[in-house]
Amino acid sequence: MKLTRKVTAMALASMMVFSMAACGGGDTPAETTTAAAAETTAAAAETTAAATEAAEKDAETTAEAAGGAGGNIGVCIYKFDDAFMTTYRNALQEILEGKGYTVTVMDGKNDQAEQNNQINNFIAQEVDALIINPVMTSAADQIIATVKDAGIPTVLINREPTADQMSAYDKLVYVGCDARQSGTMQGELILDTPNKGDINGDGKVSYIMIQGDPENVDAQYRTEFSVKALTDAGMEVEELDLQRGDWDRNKGQEIAQNDLAKFGNDIEVIFCNNDDMAIGALQAIQAAGRKVNEDIYLVGVDALDAALNEVVNGNMTGTVLNDANGQAAGAVEAMEALLGGKTYAAGEQSIYVDYVKVTPENAADFQ
Ligand code: GAL
Repeated sequence: MKLTRKVTAMALASMMVFSMAACGGGDTPAETTTAAAAETTAAAAETTAAATEAAEKDAETTAEAAGGAGGNIGVCIYKFDDAFMTTYRNALQEILEGKGYTVTVMDGKNDQAEQNNQINNFIAQEVDALIINPVMTSAADQIIATVKDAGIPTVLINREPTADQMSAYDKLVYVGCDARQSGTMQGELILDTPNKGDINGDGKVSYIMIQGDPENVDAQYRTEFSVKALTDAGMEVEELDLQRGDWDRNKGQEIAQNDLAKFGNDIEVIFCNNDDMAIGALQAIQAAGRKVNEDIYLVGVDALDAALNEVVNGNMTGTVLNDANGQAAGAVEAMEALLGGKTYAAGEQSIYVDYVKVTPENAADFQ
């Protein structure tokens, strides 16, 4: 882009010189005057071209400083085979490419060693910025040390490290959501039902919890805060089972199927840390002849299209919007701020996008 503009400006200047010279001829005073005038004009043209070029260069510098078009961005996703992160990465790529960046997105295949190689390759290619969805939150220290060493502005997404870990590098920021909020909203969805989750009226809410990958704060906080919302509201609770489903639909189906066989009608609520596992649990609920919102409640998080349909159809009690578009836009904005030279002070390195409670009343707004 820069090169093309420069060539165009120079070609324009020499073309003007050429056409002016072509107007001249012999050495008569008139011709000399004309030739001199032509030279002056040509010089002026060169000056104009040079000024244009300088102005363009300034514009480019400003654009570069603001992270404008033309930068190379490396994106690392923990694994492509994740329903929510697929929506997220598509949104991210679309926004970045729409702004003129060259984007390379890598699949970490849920393997931290593989992702470390991808980060090192991006650094060797001298990308302008990195956007990383870590495979393991526990690898954050190492990732942060690596990008700091390379001096690459970096936005972490989806898996939040601690404030302390991030404070090691001031050209690093996390964009995501506060997972406590989504857990609380799941609890509120149950509290909003006519019997507050106590379907059999025995004075307690008996639930199973299908957890995401417990290494991840999203899984930890959603598990904790969904139940906390119930107990904070004065409800008694009974945990029949808690198992990790690793954000995966098939695992959600298996866990729900086994628990429905084991605990039968004692299960009043199935909390799933995400929608993909909830869709799996719904398959098990339907296979067991149970009916959501009549003899069992089911909630998830993410507001995947499939889950929104089930909320509308009454096959899920509700879900929570995990705003992939908002987070992707926030990540790009933070990246551009970093490219523009912004640094982030310790304790101010997490930027949150709000979750939204989704019920049959508002589900259509998100479809
Ligand atoms: C969560 C999301 C899950 C899964 C997970 C991956 O925020 O709700 O569906 O994508 O991130 O870390």
